[in-house]
Order: sequence, then C-alpha cells, then structure tokens
Amino acid sequence: MVDMALQEHKFFYQLFAHWNQLAEPDQKLVEHAVLAMGKAYAPYSKFKVGASVLLATGEIICGSNQENIAFPSGLCAERVALNYVGANHPEIEIDTLCIVAEGGLMPDEQLLSPCGACRQVMLESENRQKPPIRVIMVNQDQRTMIVLSVADLLPFGFGKQA
Ligand code: THU
Repeated sequence: MVDMALQEHKFFYQLFAHWNQLAEPDQKLVEHAVLAMGKAYAPYSKFKVGASVLLATGEIICGSNQENIAFPSGLCAERVALNYVGANHPEIEIDTLCIVAEGGLMPDEQLLSPCGACRQVMLESENRQKPPIRVIMVNQDQRTMIVLSVADLLPFGFGKQA
C-alpha cells in the first residue's frame, strides 16, 4: 500500500551576522579558508573559493578552486581539500569543513553553500567516519551559516549511511 501522507524533513542550522561571532577555533578555520581563497586559480569564472578542513588531530588542510581552460577539468575548492585529506590522511577523522568565496557569480544577499557535486563528495567523507562533519559557510558579506552534518545539506543523498 502506498502511504500518501506528506512527510517532513527538518534540520538545524546556525546563522551569524559575521564570522567574528564564532568560537575562536572556528574563526581560525575561517582565516585559513580566506588565505586559501587568495590562492584560487579562477581566471574563467572570477569566482574564488577557499576551503579549510579541521582534522581530529587539530591539523588544518586547505584547498581552493583550480580551474582549467577545458572547463570540466577544473575542481571546486571543497573537493581539492577533501581529496587531499583522503589521499594523505585517510585514517584521520574530519571535524569541520569551512568554505568562503568571493566574486560576482552570486548575488551578495544569497548565502554561500556548496555545489551538488561537492555535497556528494562531502557526504562520502562523512560516511567514511562515525562523527558528523560540521560545515561552516561564510558569505561574501561575512554572514555565516553552520550546519552540524553534511547529511543535512544532502537529504536522501546517494550512498551508504554510516
Ligand atoms: N566552486 C567551488 O569551488 N565550490 C563550490 O561549491 C561551487 C563552485 C568553484 C568552481 C568554479 O571554479 C567556480 O567556483 C565557479 O563555479
């Protein structure tokens, strides 16, 4: 029998007017992402993205978007950082992922959030470990959103749940 009742999906998130309202370790992570954003190679989109990943050991790994003249060959900042973690620290759990961006691609009032392909990769990172991965997203106007788990950003995502 088909249940036609509407189901509801809820998740929690935090909003801050500026990332300087975050806890000190989170601010440090934002600062790393901002530095990484400065190293983005984005001559085609002019949209620079920086990502920083806090590992359970306290180490911070960074990435930025790396574009290519053959457009699909480029890669988003989140995947540059997460793939580096997977390649070099496969045994270490990820605590938090932070992303920042600047450029004219998005209206300023729109909150920054990762593209669908990155969400899928982020979900796989989360499913490889027990604890959820927090995600800090800093907008161009400094407004900041935090979600407590990647799964919240990709409900019904494809993949094996932990
Ligand atoms: N980009 C990211 O680095 N992360 C995202 O989540 C969305 C988009 C990059 C890809 C490309 O270099 C530029 O931003 C414009 O799409």
